[in-house]
Amino acid sequence: MEQGQSIFVGNIKGGVGKSTLTTLLFDYFQNKKGKMKVQMVDADRQGTSFELLEPMAMGDNIRHVPVSDRFDGLSLVTLDSILRRMRANPDTLTRVDTGAGWPGNVWQIAMMSECIIIPTTLSWADLRPTIEFVQEMDERKESLDTLSPHLIIVPNKVPPSQRDMSMLSDNLKDLNVVVSPPLSDLSVVRHMSANFKGLEAAKGTRFYDEFIRLGDFIDEYVLSGRLSKMYDAGERR
Ligand SMILES: Nc1ncnc2c1ncn2[C@@H]1O[C@H](COP(=O)(O)OP(=O)(O)OP(=O)(O)O)[C@@H](O)[C@H]1O
Ligand SMILES: [Mg+2]
Repeated sequence: MEQGQSIFVGNIKGGVGKSTLTTLLFDYFQNKKGKMKVQMVDADRQGTSFELLEPMAMGDNIRHVPVSDRFDGLSLVTLDSILRRMRANPDTLTRVDTGAGWPGNVWQIAMMSECIIIPTTLSWADLRPTIEFVQEMDERKESLDTLSPHLIIVPNKVPPSQRDMSMLSDNLKDLNVVVSPPLSDLSVVRHMSANFKGLEAAKGTRFYDEFIRLGDFIDEYVLSGRLSKMYDAGERR
């Protein structure tokens, strides 16, 4: 059955760029996929992505469905049914932002998505919990014997002078993850919160080009099914 697609953005670590990537990817896909209904669900109690994107809302395409530890049961059911309803329409693409800590059983809902985008900086304080998070998600996928969601690590806030990704790849080598090209640290991005103008605000910078490359990568490899086909072929070999 043809259905819509969804992208989760998550990491148990806070402050790594989940909401930034969610909102900019929303903007990227809205510009690229003219015909599609591009949607965003903010599952984080803080509602950062929701607040940023609300001025751009058209109908019900931007929603805040806070999931917290305390109200876990009910809000998880709500998030699950909203996402299922959104995915039932084949012409939709939905991003889901999640809070740090990734409460309760959100991972079960993430399992229906095409990928989980996992931003991290290259500092060990962020990398260590990120690697634990990836390990946990990888194990859950393995126990369910499923190829998706693809786990995609996005190195974020990387200083232009630090392009050595070996620490990252060394620590991830036994896991089923894809590392995307990095995103630079850019002061314009840090100040985007007030009066969100989308990717346009970063135009002419290195970050802008990097972000377009990230969006293209997600679109052309993950959403197109190419990455899944590559894994399939690998398994049959
Ligand atoms: N590439 C970047 N360059 C500069 N600043 C960035 C970049 N990416 C994110 N930031 C800044 O880092 C801070 C944290 O980003 P963001 O709110 O997106 O993280 P988060 O993972 O959603 O945090 P939380 O866990 O609190 O939800 C913000 O001030 C944001 O503007
Ligand atoms: Mg956030």
